[in-house]
Amino acid sequence: MIDKIKVYIEEVNSFSTNKSDELEAFKNKFLSKKNGIVTNFFNEFRNIPPESKKEFGQVLNNLKNNVEQKYASIKESIEQQADSNIDIDLSLPGENIILGSLHPVTVVRRQILDIFEKIGFVTIETPEIDDDWHNFTALNFPPEHPARDMQDTFFVEKNPDVVLRTHTSNGQIRFMEKHKPPFKVVIPGRTYRNEDISARSHFMFHQIEGLYVNENVSFIDLKETLLFFAKEFFGPKSKIRIRPSYFPFTEPSAEADVTCSICDGKGCNVCKYTGWLEILGCGMVDTNVLENVGIDSKKYSGYAFGMGIERITMLKYGIKDIRYFFENDLRFLSQFQNL
Ligand code: PHE
Repeated sequence: MIDKIKVYIEEVNSFSTNKSDELEAFKNKFLSKKNGIVTNFFNEFRNIPPESKKEFGQVLNNLKNNVEQKYASIKESIEQQADSNIDIDLSLPGENIILGSLHPVTVVRRQILDIFEKIGFVTIETPEIDDDWHNFTALNFPPEHPARDMQDTFFVEKNPDVVLRTHTSNGQIRFMEKHKPPFKVVIPGRTYRNEDISARSHFMFHQIEGLYVNENVSFIDLKETLLFFAKEFFGPKSKIRIRPSYFPFTEPSAEADVTCSICDGKGCNVCKYTGWLEILGCGMVDTNVLENVGIDSKKYSGYAFGMGIERITMLKYGIKDIRYFFENDLRFLSQFQNL
């Protein structure tokens, strides 16, 4: 009986076909539950004398494995052949590929930086995780001063000295500690505040800081720079308005508004019918700040400003909810594809 099985093994090994029906017949001949050759041999098993059972089993298993392998390999080659026989119509239009695009925050960050680079500002980057000195103390926030409460701070690992920066103004200190005036820099970056998420505020956002220090820098320089920016970014008809404000690191401090570009200053729901949009905080660098970084405040003066990228993007494009920026919904993001 074992010899008979060996003959079948040879038959299986030399079998070949390229037709599916022949292949199926081959499989049935050996493996069919009813009357298949392998099945029948298995049924014989109990009649085999005990001393031959082991060899019989091994040889029979070989036969079964060989049938299965043969079947699988021929089936694969038949399928491959079928694939390569398909007629290719080279005139068919291709499939549309959806192109990725830049995130609106990136698009607008680049627009803003380009405008300032045109008038001599140099872009630099500074750390997102910083110490109390760079984020607060050197910026003239005295310890326990209520001004620190203006910005709810995230501390890193309960260490009160390590914070996620609450503004890009830490970059002013980082840069001035290492450089001598004159300089003119813009500092884009991510910032964090422990605020509830709503349509108008988020715990993470982006800012761009500007800093110019030289001899005889005055508020007029600041005003003209901001007006240039407003016209370039919001359109040539834009006007700006400057209102007194307070920041510990600038004196005097101000907030700047631009005429609403959605309604041209006539009044709409984006500008809440005032015709003006608040776009940034600014002021003359406080003499204490200059002294903290070793710059002679009798010889040099400077201005600084800081704006929120999401906020400016919302104002320019009439976006009503800051959360859209962080939800990664393509219906929102793809609208910025061609900017
Ligand atoms: N750092 C301030 C803020 O986050 C903005 C600012 C920057 C104000 C520079 C004045 C000068 O609100």
